[in-house]
This record gives sequence, C-alpha cells and structure tokens, in this order.
Amino acid sequence: MSTPRHFLDLDRLPATTLRAILESAKAMKRAGRNGSTTLAGRTLALIFEKPSTRTRVSFEVAMRQLGGGSVVLDAQGSHLGVRETIADTARVLGCYVDAIMLRTDKPQKLDDMAAAGAVPVINGLTDATHPCQLMADVMTYEERKGTLKGATVAWCGDGNNVAASWIHAAERFGFTLRLAVPEALRPDPARIRWATERGAKVSLHTDPKEAVSGADCVATDTWVSMGNNDAERRMRLLTPYRVDAALMRLAKPDALFLHCLPAHRGEEVTDEVLDGPQSAVWDEAENRLHTEKAILAWCINGTRPDA
Ligand code: CP
Repeated sequence: MSTPRHFLDLDRLPATTLRAILESAKAMKRAGRNGSTTLAGRTLALIFEKPSTRTRVSFEVAMRQLGGGSVVLDAQGSHLGVRETIADTARVLGCYVDAIMLRTDKPQKLDDMAAAGAVPVINGLTDATHPCQLMADVMTYEERKGTLKGATVAWCGDGNNVAASWIHAAERFGFTLRLAVPEALRPDPARIRWATERGAKVSLHTDPKEAVSGADCVATDTWVSMGNNDAERRMRLLTPYRVDAALMRLAKPDALFLHCLPAHRGEEVTDEVLDGPQSAVWDEAENRLHTEKAILAWCINGTRPDA
C-alpha cells in the first residue's frame, strides 16, 4: 500500500509541489465550476473540533464541483479522541472515505490521524498553523500583482497560526516577511529560525510602521482567536497594531490588504481598509475554494487535476 499524500503543513511539502498545486488552482478557477469528474465517486470527511464558515463551505463545495461528495462530523457528533483513539477513527473513516480534513486544536492530532496511514489527511487549521489559508493568500496576491517571489509582506498583529503559516510561505515562495507583533505574542522562535536558516528573509518588529513601510502587501487576522481566553489583555497589547488608512499609506500605493476572515471590524482593521480599494479579502475567501479543489485533487488522485 502506498503512503497517502497528506497536506499537513507548508514546511512539510516541497516548494515545487506547492507551486504545482497553485498552478492547478489557477487552471481550475479559469475552468469554472461545472462538469469536472476529477473526484467522481470520491468522498471527503470533514471533522470540525472548532467552528468554521469558510473552510466548511469551501471544502464541501470543492468536492461537489469536482464530482465527489462530503460528510461532516463535528466534535459533539463523533467519538474522536474521547471514546476512540484518533488512529482508530482514521482507520474506520478510511473504510468509507477517500480523504479526511481535520480542524482541531493540537497539531499532534493531525499527525496521529496521518500516521494511521489510511487516507490523505488535510490540515483545516490547528492552534499552530493554517496552511490551506496561505495557499489562497498566495494565489490572491499573485492574481493581482504577479509573483510573490521577491515581494515584501507585512504582517501586523497577533503571532498566531496564520502568521506561522505566513512564515512557512515566506521560505517556500521566496518573499520577504516582516512581522509586527507585540513581544508577548510573538510566533515560536523555532519557526522563525527554521525559515531564516534556509535563507528566508523573515524579521520581527515591534513598530508596525517600520514593518509596513514600502510593503507590497499588508496582512492581519483577528486579535482573539478560537481558544484564546485573554481577550482584554490581547486588545490592550494589539491596539497599536490596528491596520487603518494611515498605516496603509506607509505601504506602496498599490499594496494589497489581506485578511483571512472573519474580521472584527474596528479592532484589527478599520472599515475603510477592509472595504477599500486595496482590500482583496473577498477574492481571498473565494480562492479558498479553488486552492482546496487543487489540494483535494493532489491528495486523492495524486495528479494534477483535469481542469
Ligand atoms: N479563514 C477561515 O479559516 O475561516 P473559517 O474559520 O470560517 O473557516
């Protein structure tokens, strides 16, 4: 039996594979929504231990548009990791479905599921990373502005799971990443070391103005993520990192604004920026669908999709 193709994190796949998946996603977007038989007769299990709007709907629609189907399990509606080991659940699901997408807290749960070796496992977000989001973010940037290679992205706000996947992406796609994050909320130093030791240009800043100055893209995320129980402290630490029109003016005049959504308007970003001409957030949300179609085709068929 061959090893399934898992999509667990950007640092665990070669840059050439990530690039091929992105090119497939672009082709699938051009091809439109109907008529594909790429995943005909195939089924995806979606397991959510945390809430979701975009990830749930985009994966379900992705399977449907590729001719397949999906089954959704939520934390309350399954035995995952409580009345049955994760590996046993993975083996059982592997009797019914062709791939599993898991949104969970601990990355170890993803690894346990993948180690069962039953079917491909896709990371739909953990407390540590959010690689599917970054595939959509890279696609969105490149649609609007051309290759990310050599560009400068400024991240302003929490050093959270999305920031961690931005660090992986900076190394894999060859762009400069400036992270403006309060000291108390900085990303794991080991993750930054992983990137810089491989030649990636990733730097930490306490001043958001310094990070944004001359950037091609400004990105942020909500200040209080799922599972954070220190909202008041986070608001206090992160208020100076809000992306508003004055901060955006320090970036290049044609700089993009990205946000993985959901946005907390007036907290991490103002309405003026989120709804303004530099914002690409709705394309970014749409591109979750196209990139996930390409990820699914790669994981399940092991081939470039027949877009
Ligand atoms: N960006 C993102 O993953 O959105 P959801 O939490 O709605 O899935």
